[in-house]
Amino acid sequence: MKAPLADKCAVVTGGAKGIGLAICRSLIKAGAEVVAGDLQKPQHEGLAWQPLDVTDEDSIARFVSAVSSECGVDILVNNAGIMFEKSLAEQTADDWDRMMSVNLRGPFLMAKHLVPVMAERGGGAIVNVGSVEGMACNPNHSAYAASKAGIHGLTVALAVDLGPLGIRCNAVAPGWIDTDLNKAYVEAHPDRDLVTAELARLHPVGHIGDPADVGEIVAWLSGDEARFVTGQVITIDGGRRSKLPLPSIMGR
Ligand SMILES: NC(=O)c1ccc[n+]([C@@H]2O[C@H](COP(=O)([O-])OP(=O)(O)OC[C@H]3O[C@@H](n4cnc5c(N)ncnc54)[C@H](O)[C@@H]3O)[C@@H](O)[C@H]2O)c1
Repeated sequence: MKAPLADKCAVVTGGAKGIGLAICRSLIKAGAEVVAGDLQKPQHEGLAWQPLDVTDEDSIARFVSAVSSECGVDILVNNAGIMFEKSLAEQTADDWDRMMSVNLRGPFLMAKHLVPVMAERGGGAIVNVGSVEGMACNPNHSAYAASKAGIHGLTVALAVDLGPLGIRCNAVAPGWIDTDLNKAYVEAHPDRDLVTAELARLHPVGHIGDPADVGEIVAWLSGDEARFVTGQVITIDGGRRSKLPLPSIMGR
């Protein structure tokens, strides 16, 4: 049986580690040829890589020229993202611009430069990595939450504009995923076991997410099995956003 993404070429921004690397692995498993675009080399021997800074339009143009001459592009995954915590008082205009430049302007520019390449091959799929924090929010995350809500809006807009070119556009909105970024939060707490148990309690499925949980859904959205799905934001959060919080003293 033919692999679902056989003969497809994919690019994944921020594909060197974390969720992006898991997305690369899922796409490869589904049969795609994959190039990771990142500031750093991938933490995975043998994964194709091209240097890319999504905040720099010249870097994007060089990246697109390199990948389109190698294999063309059918699938774009806009995954690269940054996160910081700052109160409104602490946050400067430069902080705000830096967040938007990576998380929101980057995906817009990647789409702008790659859509002509995808259209030339008869269409394709864009998957943007949003966040549950584009819908609800932790304290001091105003810039991050705004950038991710922006990604969800961009997803709907691109689905509408690019449908006639045969290009679908969807987003995933991951919840708490076990990456370096979140490990640092858990490890900073003096009682790691307690934090782990409390985190599990917040999730109806009883645990936090693994990067591969995101990778598998992105691979599905990228392929023809999802050919009638566009303009959607798929939440991948183990049910956390569906569960109303109760005081932890009530034990559930
Ligand atoms: N970890 C989570 O729980 C979680 C939850 C929801 C959404 N997300 C989103 O998932 C995506 C990946 O997160 P992660 O936890 O794997 O992060 P991570 O920090 O582990 O990896 C991010 C990758 O993006 C790359 N990157 C950063 N800036 C870049 C730039 N300017 N150009 C190109 N590459 C750049 C980094 O080098 C790194 O390889 C982000 O968009 C993040 O907002 C993460």
